[in-house]
Amino acid sequence: MKAVVLVGGFGTRLRPLTATTPKQMLPVVDRPIIEYVLSTLERGGVSEVTLALGYKEDLFRAAYPDAVCGGVSLSYAVEPEPLDTAGAVRFAADAAGLDESFLVVNGDVLTDIDVRSLWERHHETGAQATIALTRVDDPTRFGVVPTDSQGRVLGFVEKPCREEAPTNWVNAGVYVLEPEIPGRIAGDRRVSIEREVFPAVAAENGLWAVKSEAYWIDIGTPSTYVQAQLDLIDGVRGAAMAAVAADAHVAEHAGVDRSVVMDGASVAAGAVVRDSIIMQGALIDEGALVDGSIIGPGARVGTGAKVTGMSIVGDRMSVEPGRLVDGSKIPMGD
Ligand code: GTP
Repeated sequence: MKAVVLVGGFGTRLRPLTATTPKQMLPVVDRPIIEYVLSTLERGGVSEVTLALGYKEDLFRAAYPDAVCGGVSLSYAVEPEPLDTAGAVRFAADAAGLDESFLVVNGDVLTDIDVRSLWERHHETGAQATIALTRVDDPTRFGVVPTDSQGRVLGFVEKPCREEAPTNWVNAGVYVLEPEIPGRIAGDRRVSIEREVFPAVAAENGLWAVKSEAYWIDIGTPSTYVQAQLDLIDGVRGAAMAAVAADAHVAEHAGVDRSVVMDGASVAAGAVVRDSIIMQGALIDEGALVDGSIIGPGARVGTGAKVTGMSIVGDRMSVEPGRLVDGSKIPMGD
């Protein structure tokens, strides 16, 4: 099986972290997001992946110079300008010369969805496209996908208001497409797969879906980026991962509770870190509090400062001693 993985977005909701690092290269506990995504594909039987790149594409190439990652071989398709989700699929399919069915995956989804069974169901039904569905409590942020009892998609409602959401089953960002699909996507403008392509294929009765109860999270927002990591250290997806990296330093009288402390980070005595992510090389000084927040690489939280309420402190930024940062991003407005 071959796959296209979409990794070209700007990741604006995760700024300021994405100002320096593209979203899929941000670490989740101990390795970049993209490595989890590719490992899931490899487990499902994918051997070749084309990364649909745009924003900061050079950082992907630099990270995987021998074009192998997560057990799959990589090729790169770099858009001259962002073409949106469907435009990117067309561009990557052309670049890779895909002329058989292929998988498409949003590069910011961490999931245990079985892509092999999605692939098999796609070929059983003879669909033009087959989407994996996942169930969420609040469907208003997603593409909501009502189906008949066999799984044929009846419509595609992108980000409906709560009263208009016909079901809680939403587009999981994992698809199988027939090779004819890219050919019907305009090549000269931005095209959204969710807003244009899927509604059109559904209207022709060519769109099918497979419901999955497997683990699924879209890490595109600060709170889901944190949650995905807490799930891994809590053991929600299998054996619990180590929360504190081997070369991080947590002082004896520091309180680190349900948090990730990455390589080279340090938490001083009397500091408290709760439900948070302390990224590589960040320093949490004596008596500081970090609660439900993200401290970026090389950032510093000064003595007695408090960072709370899903705040993000960007790369190498500092919070002065004693300062309170609640529900904010540093630098501000980033
Ligand atoms: P936000 O700016 O925070 O909305 O993030 P985003 O830019 O990543 O957009 P979104 O989360 O909606 O994108 C879903 C997936 O498609 C992500 O994996 C993106 O990297 C990818 N993506 C979005 N737009 C493009 C594009 O124009 N080109 C390519 N190659 N990928 C894209």
